[in-house]
Amino acid sequence: MRARVMLHGCAGIALDGLARVRASIVLLVACGQNVAPPSDCDRPGSRVSAGNVTAEALAGGIVRVRYGAGEASSWAIALPPAPDPDARVGDKTLCTAAMTVRIEGGLVTATLADGTVVVDDARPYADGTLVRTAQRDRVYGLGERTGGLDKRGRAWTFWNTDAYDPDIGGWKPDQDPLYQSIPLEVHFATSAFGIFTDVTRRMVIELGGAEDRITTVGPIDQYLIAGPRIADVVDRYTQLTGRPAAPPSWALGFHQSRWGYSQADLEAIAARFRELDIPATALWLDIQHMRGFRSFTFDPQTFPDPRGLIERLASRGFRVVAIEDPGIKIDPGWDVYDSGLPHFLQRDGAAYQGVAWPGPSAFADFSSPAARQWWGDLVARTLDLGVAGIWLDVNEPTTFPEGGGGNTIPDDIAAVGDGRATTMAELHNAYALFQARATYEAIAARGEQPFVLSRAGYAGIQRYAATWTGDTPSTWWGLRQTLPMMLGLGMSGVPIVGSDIGGYSGGASPELYARWLALGSISPFARAHVTAGVPGQEPWQFGAEVTDAAREWLKQRERLLPYLIALADEAARTGAPLLRPLVWEFQDDTSVADIGDEAMLGPWLLVAPVLDEGATTRQIYLPAGRWFELASDAYVDGPTTIDVPLRIASLPIYVRAGAIIPTAEDVLEIYPGDERSRFAGVEVEPLADGIRISLPRAYRVRVHRVDRAVTAYPYDANARVIEVLQGAGTFELHYDRTLDEPRPPVTVTFEVHVPDGTPLDPPIHVASSLTAWTHVPLAWVAPGVARGTFVATRGEWIDYKLTRGSWQTVEKLADCGEAPNRTRIASATTRIDSVAKWRDSCGNY
Ligand code: GLC
Repeated sequence: MRARVMLHGCAGIALDGLARVRASIVLLVACGQNVAPPSDCDRPGSRVSAGNVTAEALAGGIVRVRYGAGEASSWAIALPPAPDPDARVGDKTLCTAAMTVRIEGGLVTATLADGTVVVDDARPYADGTLVRTAQRDRVYGLGERTGGLDKRGRAWTFWNTDAYDPDIGGWKPDQDPLYQSIPLEVHFATSAFGIFTDVTRRMVIELGGAEDRITTVGPIDQYLIAGPRIADVVDRYTQLTGRPAAPPSWALGFHQSRWGYSQADLEAIAARFRELDIPATALWLDIQHMRGFRSFTFDPQTFPDPRGLIERLASRGFRVVAIEDPGIKIDPGWDVYDSGLPHFLQRDGAAYQGVAWPGPSAFADFSSPAARQWWGDLVARTLDLGVAGIWLDVNEPTTFPEGGGGNTIPDDIAAVGDGRATTMAELHNAYALFQARATYEAIAARGEQPFVLSRAGYAGIQRYAATWTGDTPSTWWGLRQTLPMMLGLGMSGVPIVGSDIGGYSGGASPELYARWLALGSISPFARAHVTAGVPGQEPWQFGAEVTDAAREWLKQRERLLPYLIALADEAARTGAPLLRPLVWEFQDDTSVADIGDEAMLGPWLLVAPVLDEGATTRQIYLPAGRWFELASDAYVDGPTTIDVPLRIASLPIYVRAGAIIPTAEDVLEIYPGDERSRFAGVEVEPLADGIRISLPRAYRVRVHRVDRAVTAYPYDANARVIEVLQGAGTFELHYDRTLDEPRPPVTVTFEVHVPDGTPLDPPIHVASSLTAWTHVPLAWVAPGVARGTFVATRGEWIDYKLTRGSWQTVEKLADCGEAPNRTRIASATTRIDSVAKWRDSCGNY
């Protein structure tokens, strides 16, 4: 196969041919000919075998290749796909519209219709190793991993692991493996192609050398998945392994958690969120509410009235999510343990005992349908108290001590295997998948929309659960790692992902917490969480400036909730992650393939969170097209790299032209582009002098950046937005679409509410970066309320403070501390600010 061949018919080209098929394709491409690769597929058929290798064409652009005797059997596959009815076969070849797979002399080669070789001379060895020649491409995906987007360059282990390192209070940089095992490789050179290796046993995929090497024990089932877009690969993969569950809308809000909240803490925190007007939809119960860490219990001393507590929290608009750990305390006489006895994994005729939070514990065999039913009945008990969602933790499954070693239930313990007897060696990686299934089905059986969060998982986990990145330490590298890790999970079919906002180990500085919360506010799942025995990580614990920024980000998330819901619906239909790398949307832009510190939130919002300590500026790459800064409506044309100045309150977000963004209160934000766009049932088509919009239902439509309007509709020339209340159907807006000033002057209205006793004279002033910090007076418009307008020459961010005409009378916090500069004016808005105190009433000048 490695003979050097001279190819003829294309003058002057000598190539190192690997396989005949491949060489002739290289030749055809090199000669610029457009000829289909030769094939010996001369008859209908969907299956070829040679030796112990079988390839089978499945509907949906997928070929399954089994290396090893016997028939494939899988826990990951949702619905076994039908054979591809259009496939053809030859003696050694299988041909589908998407690819050709050849098994010859023990080597497997897969070639796409465009000639790209995607599996090159794959050869299985009897010891369970599968080797193939590495391609010059990137490999995305592989589930939950450290590192950048491209996973080439090292070996990755598939073995669900609680990688907690007590020295750093979480997992280490470069830690591998972590909690989840999702063996989906998304290969990408100029087009995308997937390889899903459906093996739950311990496995290593090495992507570091001239050969890619998969090492495991036993047969290997691989699914070769056609692209050509990354989105196509994930769509086909989630058709195979199951579409993601769409969460209830409250689950897309902001959640607050910590290990250790008492009943009184929870009530106080709920009140504080409302007092400070910081949006949040859910509070979490970690293991502290349990009686001696027994799952499905509440401690009667410390949580005497769970139902009442949950009702009171509900009356303030909070759902409650409770943790249920798999390790069940060995405690004869306790009904949960007693009823679990028939369902626990066994050793020597008795329940296998491992150590978990409650001490010696038994573990259900979730691969048994009866055990799933038992667990589901217990989940129903928790839900009967009013709990709205279930958190599945330490389900790798972990036995203690933790410590990075990945202690777990021994490999030789027998398991039911959902109808085919097996052992933990095979069930380990799928343990959480079965537990999540039991939990999801128990909630769904009540007619409720399930919300399940699972730490561990295998391919297919998206059908049942969202996930988070586990115990990420509260460090800057932990924050920086979080975004590419979420993006990698998204490209592995898991769209609802998040991280412990602020980091798990605790003690985040105000800056680290603020940056993490900003990232969290645009993460699909947004939950602040922290370990026990350290300060809480509620948004108000980090000073007034962070509290204000938190309010803005979380209000922005609340405003965008209908957009997030539409994205979650899209995920449930196509597997597309809510948060996706730039390469997902801009696959043909060669400069985005490795960008892992920016992301697209759905097709329309480019987010560039700040991930570096002390950053005062950050560079942002904007691909081709027009981009509107979300806060200011100022626009920039890409492709370009811009430098933006940063404040604590900065979370740069750019809206892509063409955007259709449903927001709260039935508002639809439209940023017209040059091409027809569709989203959430809305369609926008450009016209020579305006746009045509089709709506599936009534909306208040806001069309951005439409200068010099010639329309009957109300038009805000200052904001350059047309606002229309419109019912379902099609309508047109006519305006002049040319704009010569990308950052127009904007008028800002200040409305200031002052504390009781503030004298009328001198009046309230605004001192700002707009006026070189001189003090400019406002007029009194009502008792205690002053108002005035300013023109900012260009839409830009400004800082300001409120005074009574001089720095001796500058505003102060309620405790007379220094009030931080107010910020975030970049668009024509009305600012409504309240002053707590004036400096001269604090007596400290
Ligand atoms: C695990 C979880 C963490 C939780 C803790 C206690 O470490 O990852 O989130 O707080 O267990 O239940």
